[in-house]
Amino acid sequence: MILFDSHAHLDFEDYDADRDEMITRARAAGLINIVNVGFDLDSSRKAVQLAEKYDLIYAAVGIHPHVADEAPIDFLEQLEQLSAHPKVVALGEMGLDYFRNLSSRPVQYKVFREQLTLAKRLNLPVIIHDREAHGEVMDILHQDSPFPAGGVIHCYSGSWEMAKQCISLGFYISIAGPVTFKNANRLKDIATRIPLNRLLIETDAPFLTPTPHRGKRNEPAFVQFTAVEIAGLKKMDNEELAKICAENGKTLFRLNTTR
Ligand code: NI
Repeated sequence: MILFDSHAHLDFEDYDADRDEMITRARAAGLINIVNVGFDLDSSRKAVQLAEKYDLIYAAVGIHPHVADEAPIDFLEQLEQLSAHPKVVALGEMGLDYFRNLSSRPVQYKVFREQLTLAKRLNLPVIIHDREAHGEVMDILHQDSPFPAGGVIHCYSGSWEMAKQCISLGFYISIAGPVTFKNANRLKDIATRIPLNRLLIETDAPFLTPTPHRGKRNEPAFVQFTAVEIAGLKKMDNEELAKICAENGKTLFRLNTTR
């Protein structure tokens, strides 16, 4: 299978003991690319370092809503500097998280909006985190559209109606491991409906481990289980589904063209 993991956090200390082996397993499973997504400035720097070390890894740099409160005053300048690296392919992750509310909502909103503006100026795609903030995220995306470089709603958890709006705004929808869970009927239904040319798959490793490894640490090799699940839902060949998602990833993050 040819696989593309559109969202992972391989810089996290969860992999400090076996990062090389984990990447070797990813290659063996068929991974051609992994987008390692920054969580804060430190993690974004580490994402760039990983991308320098491993040819299949690309980096995104951004401030997650969980740590929006801690973003230094010059975070936009720092993100812009990091984004000049040739292996930085997107800004993110960024967005709103009204489930855990680890940063104050007004600051989450401000840090999200400012990153969207920066991405537009730099002509980079955006990687968006939305948890229990669907209405607000859609309001912002509508107000700030168009996004000429596009983007992705990662670990999609909204409705089919919202997915249609995201697609009409030019976004991809990325489905993560929970689609493999037995009782995930709503997400399975949405995965069935998302047009193939707008679909990405991801692990969000080390989180959200798919069945049959649920409960253990996640890693990019496990994105195959998400591919197989969605192929089954769409009644198509596993390898074909995986290949289309890989092509979509290369298109969104412009891995085929010289940047
Ligand atoms: Ni993430």
